Amino acid sequence: MKFLKIQNYNTLMKSIVLLLLCVVHVNAQVTLPSKQDGFWYKNRIANTKSIVIEAFFDPLCPDSRDSWPPLKLALQHYGSRLSLVVHPFPLPYHDNAFISSRAMHISNQLNTSATYRLLESFFDHQGRFYGNATFNLSRSSVVDKIARFTSNSIGNSHYAAVKVGFTDPKTDHATRISFKYGCVKGVYGTPFFFVNGFPLSDSGSALDYNAWRKIIHPLLKN
Ligand SMILES: *[C@@H]1O[C@H](CO)[C@@H](O)[C@H](O)[C@H]1NC(C)=O
Ligand SMILES: *[C@@H]1O[C@H](CO)[C@@H](O)[C@H](O)[C@H]1NC(C)=O
Ligand SMILES: *[C@@H]1O[C@H](CO)[C@@H](O)[C@H](O)[C@H]1NC(C)=O
Repeated sequence: MKFLKIQNYNTLMKSIVLLLLCVVHVNAQVTLPSKQDGFWYKNRIANTKSIVIEAFFDPLCPDSRDSWPPLKLALQHYGSRLSLVVHPFPLPYHDNAFISSRAMHISNQLNTSATYRLLESFFDHQGRFYGNATFNLSRSSVVDKIARFTSNSIGNSHYAAVKVGFTDPKTDHATRISFKYGCVKGVYGTPFFFVNGFPLSDSGSALDYNAWRKIIHPLLKN
């Protein structure tokens, strides 16, 4: 019995040391971003009185696409009382999701008010960038396809700047920060919603307009 206990103790200590090493390692890897992540809808930036929805969307995720129209309706309905910030969250099992999310950061730099137009364009034409549709294309032609698509959406005069954006390490970094921010918040799928910082229990699937009303309405009464 005594021997067993000592063995258990040793195993426990080893696990604790390993755990500490992991924590130190993780801390060393996350550099703090210089500004908050995300794209505010209609520049309606939250104040202390607003209800804040944070949405994690993968631009190439069908469920994210389906969840957008009802959320947009709710935003129209509640107006300035409701603020939305979208964070791109590229899922590893969606080919080209990272490139598309990066396109959102690039377009946000070029014209802040065009970001949501691009998101909607991706939602409307996702199929063009699914894995199967691009399976036989080189990475550079996929990037070019997405750069053309992006400038078609935000303004063709931006094409050259969008292409340059894809070679700028800053836009790569910004897209990684979006992803890491989601990880820090425990996001594991899209769409994933937080209201005033708290996760919605049925995240990962589309909420319809009535579901949003049921969530928002009681919060406004209090
Ligand atoms: C930026 O985007 C907005 C909204 O889509 C558009 O009205 C405006 O003309 C764009 N500005 C430029 C400089 O492209
Ligand atoms: C890729 O190209 C090969 C060879 O041309 C073809 O047989 C295959 O069906 C293509 N795959 C897709 C997913 O388009
Ligand atoms: C992908 O493309 C190939 C070739 O065009 C086709 O045979 C296959 O059914 C497609 N798969 C899906 C999941 O769409």
